[in-house]
Amino acid sequence: MGDKNHIMEFLLVTEQYAPSVALIQLNRPKDLNALNLQLMAELRDTLQQLDRNSEVRVIVITGNEQAFAAGADIKQMADKSAIDMLIVDQFSTWDQIRRTKKPIIAAVSGFALGGGCELAMTCDMIIASESAKFGQPEIKIGVMPGAGGTQRLTRAIGKAKAMELVLTGKFLSADEALYYGLVNKVVPPEMYLREAVTLASEIAQMSPIAVQLAKEAVNRSFEVHLDEGLHFERKNFYLSFASDDQKEGMKAFIEKRKPSYRGK
Ligand code: CAA
Repeated sequence: MGDKNHIMEFLLVTEQYAPSVALIQLNRPKDLNALNLQLMAELRDTLQQLDRNSEVRVIVITGNEQAFAAGADIKQMADKSAIDMLIVDQFSTWDQIRRTKKPIIAAVSGFALGGGCELAMTCDMIIASESAKFGQPEIKIGVMPGAGGTQRLTRAIGKAKAMELVLTGKFLSADEALYYGLVNKVVPPEMYLREAVTLASEIAQMSPIAVQLAKEAVNRSFEVHLDEGLHFERKNFYLSFASDDQKEGMKAFIEKRKPSYRGK
């Protein structure tokens, strides 16, 4: 990515929306940002490029006021056979998205349904507008979640409520999502993007190396037993001492000044 702003078919990307914070806006408004194959491929490629860009430290993904995303594109999938689905294996794109090393914050307003809810949950944190509606309504169209809904929603909000949402297709309001721990914060509609960028900017002040190691360790807690997770955490902690940022952070504390992290 050479230019600072990019317009793709279904994404608007601003590399420096705020200092060191990139913004990706899903841009298929007429279809409530339904996640077709092209959009997801653009998102995967953009995240990979931003991950390699040293001028970007945190990424915010948003939609528009009406919809973060209303799910995978039903029209694109409707006539497919199981073998078509297997060959295209559209959700393998999502595996690459979840490997993004930099923190990703979802700024959600309106519908975050099906794949939209799954995309928000693939991000590291969620800031929601009061108008946000989360759900896994796939059951209503004769299928089930396929991009992490049964796993991530259950881990986020617990079995009882996740089972209810997945089996009935009911939506969670923003306040309910906050109550169940799915989102970090709920703010009025005119503030959700600003709030997400403020959070991103706060993280962008930290050592990007420490942020990467810490994100990796928190995510590891979902994958492994406690003993292995603690071992992984300890290794990452020790590894952080290989960075100049560790020296700078601790020195700045002792000298009672603000640290300046270079990501080295
Ligand atoms: N795929 C394709 N198109 C979609 C879509 C989707 N997931 N969601 C909305 N759209 C389209 C509608 O077809 C409509 O297009 P047209 O104007 O061309 O008819 C346009 O977006 C506006 O939608 P509505 O007229 O339906 O708007 P509404 O305000 O009446 O309803 C809604 C909003 C409740 C979100 C409704 O659109 C809806 O139920 N959408 C589908 C939600 C869903 O089932 N998502 C799960 C998809 S499967 C999945 O995601 C699998 C997975 O695990 C990844």
